[in-house]
Amino acid sequence: MNALGKIIKARIEKDGPISLHDYMQIALGHPEYGYYARQNPFGTEGDFITAPETSQMFGELIGLWAVDVWDKLGRPKKFYLVELGPGNGTLMADAQRSARLVPEFLTAAEIHLIENSARLRERQAYTLPDHGIHWHDELPELSGAPVILIANEFFDALPIHQYCHQSGVWFERMIALRDGNFVYALANTPASVKSAASADDGDILELCPAGNKMIEQVSKLLFREGGAALIIDYGADEILLGDSFQAVKRHGYTDPLVKPGEADLTTHVRFSCLKEIALSYNITVQGPTTQGRFLERLGVEARHHQLRKNASDEQRKKLDAQLRRLISSSEMGTLFKVMALSHNVVAATEGFGT
Ligand SMILES: C[S@@+](CC[C@H](N)C(=O)[O-])C[C@H]1O[C@@H](n2cnc3c(N)ncnc32)[C@H](O)[C@@H]1O
Repeated sequence: MNALGKIIKARIEKDGPISLHDYMQIALGHPEYGYYARQNPFGTEGDFITAPETSQMFGELIGLWAVDVWDKLGRPKKFYLVELGPGNGTLMADAQRSARLVPEFLTAAEIHLIENSARLRERQAYTLPDHGIHWHDELPELSGAPVILIANEFFDALPIHQYCHQSGVWFERMIALRDGNFVYALANTPASVKSAASADDGDILELCPAGNKMIEQVSKLLFREGGAALIIDYGADEILLGDSFQAVKRHGYTDPLVKPGEADLTTHVRFSCLKEIALSYNITVQGPTTQGRFLERLGVEARHHQLRKNASDEQRKKLDAQLRRLISSSEMGTLFKVMALSHNVVAATEGFGT
């Protein structure tokens, strides 16, 4: 058992089984041994490749999406450009590069990054050496200017509670110890949770309070200051029952209960749940649409064509593979969804069709 495993084991021995939520929170966020504190998650050398790490086209098009929102906000002299969970900072760097086409946008942008990993903050500072970036552990109370917020693969990294349906009631799924190893168990007493779908014995319900809280905060901020948010993640539109808890290491699936802190733990994002919360705050919601359709509508093929023009044969092959990865239904194109929230933006944001 690794060092973090021993810490979790000691806690279970002392206090009894812990919720899956707490296990996930410790495994990802422990300040010394947690996944985002220790590992090099992104890229071919890491455990998984996110869309901005796949191709510069992704961040560039999102940069242009943001410029268009800024234009639809009436080109404010100041606005907050916020990113939740910026990873290596690649998306923001690519977005800033494409936004150079409109220098006033960059001058007006005050950049705020929400990142709780000290290690990744260092990387972001390296990727985005430009002045004036503000880092926060949580979404701050920004005021006095509109907001354009981006979140790519942020919500899937937030800890969830899982509940298992047994004889008409839900029991929280816990992590216990058996023969010195972590195993799933159920809480002794039923939980007072409800599912929108009817459930059979053995069905799993997943709830993400941190994701719900973040959408509430984003919605309140947009309602107060105006602006738009773009949320990109993998998941389903409908609330579905089912177990989406998974661990990824070196581009493959692994057991989430072995070697905590050494694999990325994620779950599928329930977009319909986030949408419902945003609508309850009178926020306009577009989507979710698929990442493939969204990028196509923003012109990814034209950008790909442009990059190909000056490329070598070898580079063209790479560019073709990158485009496929971003938009093909057999890769990220359909599994990943995009949803926009907006308030006081004069017209619909780009990428969602009419
Ligand atoms: C899967 S990575 C995505 C990185 C990046 N957006 C990309 O697409 O390459 C998740 C990011 O969210 C950050 N993160 C996860 N949970 C967080 C939390 N509760 N508060 C702030 N940042 C968090 C991680 O440190 C990491 O930067």
